Amino acid sequence: MSIPTRAAGRVACLAAHSVEIIRANQASSGAYVASPNFPVYRYSWLRDGAFIADAMSRAGEIESAEAFFAWCSRTLLARAGTVDALIARRRAGSTIRHDEFLPTRYTVEGEETGEPWTDFQLDGYGAWLWALDAHARRHARPLDPCLPGALVSARYITAFWDEPSFDWWEERPDERHSSTLAALHGGLTAVAGWAGATEQVRRDAAGVAGVIRATVAADAARNGCVAKWLGGSAVDASLLAVATPFRLLEPDDPLMAATLRSIEADLVRGGGVHRYLGDTYYGGGQWLLLAALLGWHYAEAGRPDDAWRELAWVADRALPDGEFPEQVTEDLLAPGRLAEWEERWGPIATPLLWSHAMFLTLALQLGVARPRATRG
Ligand code: BGC
Repeated sequence: MSIPTRAAGRVACLAAHSVEIIRANQASSGAYVASPNFPVYRYSWLRDGAFIADAMSRAGEIESAEAFFAWCSRTLLARAGTVDALIARRRAGSTIRHDEFLPTRYTVEGEETGEPWTDFQLDGYGAWLWALDAHARRHARPLDPCLPGALVSARYITAFWDEPSFDWWEERPDERHSSTLAALHGGLTAVAGWAGATEQVRRDAAGVAGVIRATVAADAARNGCVAKWLGGSAVDASLLAVATPFRLLEPDDPLMAATLRSIEADLVRGGGVHRYLGDTYYGGGQWLLLAALLGWHYAEAGRPDDAWRELAWVADRALPDGEFPEQVTEDLLAPGRLAEWEERWGPIATPLLWSHAMFLTLALQLGVARPRATRG
């Protein structure tokens, strides 16, 4: 597809601005803040951060991505004792409460926030390993500086991958979510190929990755497409990640194609993407990061025209200063629920670094933006 020059120029500018926004909101520790102007998002999430670092790596912002990975490694290393104690308790058969596991988000110093939160999510502990591995391969960079913390993360998810936990949206803690499992699969598949890990660690990682893949694939075969959680049938846009980028299924796998069709039928309207039917958070708007993820998946699935349409949809939602919000309210699933969130937490989180990261990734993927080393 040929892209009109003016539109491509605007996308390239927005992509460059996205790099600036991400850089400006990376703490000196290396942590990325989820959103600087939204009080409960002034922390660093491993999930958001993994996608942000991956986008920066693709953009050629090597120091930024590596500063984040080093922060992850230090943060995990500081909890090696906690992880080993949790594993010992699991082996001894004792019950572990959700609030005893590692948290979802950290302060930029890598500490617990000390505030109540839906704080048990596993996906980020796999996603950053996937992003680290992809970065090392992309730029032929050594893994060694981050290996100690990465191996703590690998130990943690190898032991607890099948524990029910909060999903990408910090909901439904009693289920085992397919997009969470995909991230763990992506991380463990990476670890299985690391020369710096022991034979045992690599074998365990490969074994668990295989079991995760078989579990999700068998559940998808039962349902006809990948379900939001094992044993269920609900649709969620985060399921795109099962293929793009975590490759638990290939984009052209019939089960993934069926999953995409159900996402398109239920959640995509006019290019915008809802998280899931029944979403009420800020009225259940359309999420920019999901539109960009859909575009990325289209690009991987050989549908560049559809990918470009998603890129244009996101670009059209940039605010005059080039910032991207978390979601937009032009097509709400639950319009009556918007005001209560605005009263509780203020306007929709803007800028959301994860939105910028996904836009950047899609723009790079389509060749509309170029990595730093090749920019003139
Ligand atoms: C979303 C999470 C995200 C967090 C920070 C939450 O509202 O549900 O997926 O990690 O915001 O961006």
